[in-house]
Amino acid sequence: IAVEIHPTAKEGSKAVAAEIAALIRQKQTAGEPCVLGLATGSTPKYLYAELVRLHREEGLSFKNVVTFNLDEYYPIEPDALQSYNRFMKEQLFNHIDIKEGNYHVPDGTVPKEKIKAYCEEYERKIESAGGLDIQILGIGNNGHIGFNEPGSSINSHTRLITLDNSTRLANAFDFPNMSQVPRLAITMGINTILKAKKVILLAWGSHKAKIVRRSVEGHSTDQVPASLLQQHPNTKFVIDEQAAHDLT
Ligand code: F6R
Repeated sequence: IAVEIHPTAKEGSKAVAAEIAALIRQKQTAGEPCVLGLATGSTPKYLYAELVRLHREEGLSFKNVVTFNLDEYYPIEPDALQSYNRFMKEQLFNHIDIKEGNYHVPDGTVPKEKIKAYCEEYERKIESAGGLDIQILGIGNNGHIGFNEPGSSINSHTRLITLDNSTRLANAFDFPNMSQVPRLAITMGINTILKAKKVILLAWGSHKAKIVRRSVEGHSTDQVPASLLQQHPNTKFVIDEQAAHDLT
């Protein structure tokens, strides 16, 4: 895994935004769509702010961009405060010229008996868009990517998963109380992520230092899902100095 260290989260985010913008423009020139896999949470907020700035101030168009988000709580209404559908609209989609219908966030309202078919369809949509050109990831303190918790198979696809208690605890600040944090989520699988042509994992802050080290320098094991990225030929971690602190 390549590691790119920046002084701050803002600088790292700007570098990744510039890389994404360059690919979008290159694909525009070629008359091709640019397919992005996107994450939510606190980590990509600067990245999305910078992409919005590039749209507003530097004429970056998203008309040829198609996006697929990693995950969504289940069940959840799309307009709920904690919904990742809502998050993406507020942080990015409402502020750029992406076409309605070109962005996809898993639907937290699909009836349970239809989830399996829904997840298979999500995978097919990614394939028929041409596959993910770049997948953006954050990392959980337990090493999860998307909501692929420890133990997730390297062959896993988009599916319903039970959230770890540590993940529910880490995300509880967003909810009125712990009992309201959903126990389930829909997430792309590890295999879905590994099929992306390029993977960029972002991590900021000292609280991510330990899991960054285990992911980059430890054994590749499904007990640390991010360490499975060692098996992808084109993955880089873009991190700040604090998150890089434990690397040898
Ligand atoms: C969210 C996602 C998660 C987060 C991870 C880190 O779409 O896929 O894996 O990236 O939980 O969350 P933050 O960025 O809030 O530290």
